[in-house]
Amino acid sequence: MDLVEAIKSRKSIRGYKPNPVPKEVLKEILEIASRAPSSVNTQPWEFTVIAGEVLEKIKQTNIEKFNSGESPQQNVRRDAYTGKYRDRQVAIAVQLFQLMNIAREDRDKRTEWTRRGFRFFDAPAAIIISIDESLSETAQFDIGAISQTIALVALNHGLGTCIQGAGIMYPEIIRKFTGIPESKRICICLTIGYPDWDFPANKVHSDREPIENIITWCGI
Ligand SMILES: Cc1cc2nc3c(=O)[nH]c(=O)nc-3n(C[C@H](O)[C@H](O)[C@H](O)COP(=O)(O)O)c2cc1C
Repeated sequence: MDLVEAIKSRKSIRGYKPNPVPKEVLKEILEIASRAPSSVNTQPWEFTVIAGEVLEKIKQTNIEKFNSGESPQQNVRRDAYTGKYRDRQVAIAVQLFQLMNIAREDRDKRTEWTRRGFRFFDAPAAIIISIDESLSETAQFDIGAISQTIALVALNHGLGTCIQGAGIMYPEIIRKFTGIPESKRICICLTIGYPDWDFPANKVHSDREPIENIITWCGI
């Protein structure tokens, strides 16, 4: 796939076909994506690919924990956004809820949508990215670079992704079923699978700020 076409067509996929993603395909994607740049070539990323029974167990345990009322750990404090950042957060939520026919006051449907996140959007696989705890202050940029690169390479195989915080918000569950030790920080995950284009939320088209609003030209 053409690079510009890939960048323009990538979008977060929140509904997947159940078809499994072959292990060799996942390996190839990660191998190519690991060409992503990193600070002084530290390559801090470590991948834990979950699918099959392990993913099912994690989904199930996430849901049990969520239903028990235990607060999930928020890597990004979503309630902290204000001004234009809050406006953009609201805009994407409004669009998704409209597509999913979830009314603002419909608590049950909203909760079910949240559960869907804890179920990794029912994707057949997910890639968890972790880093050594000693790098936790410095490697955030590298994690962003690898995440986007994985998302783009996946398109070349007809796969959709969503960079996702929800699935890993109970990190102790992830550690229990994958063996990721406490010495590693679980940073982010990507759900991955073949998009179900009939799933309403996949019709989302997130807005971007007009480019002239975010460029300052100097000397040109
Ligand atoms: C660090 C990070 C965490 C995210 N976590 C979630 C999540 O938990 N749930 C979700 O539905 N989308 C999540 N997203 C996807 C964003 O909502 C999405 O990228 C943004 O709305 C822009 O939409 P697009 O990816 O379709 O262009 C996350 C994205 C990033 C980069």
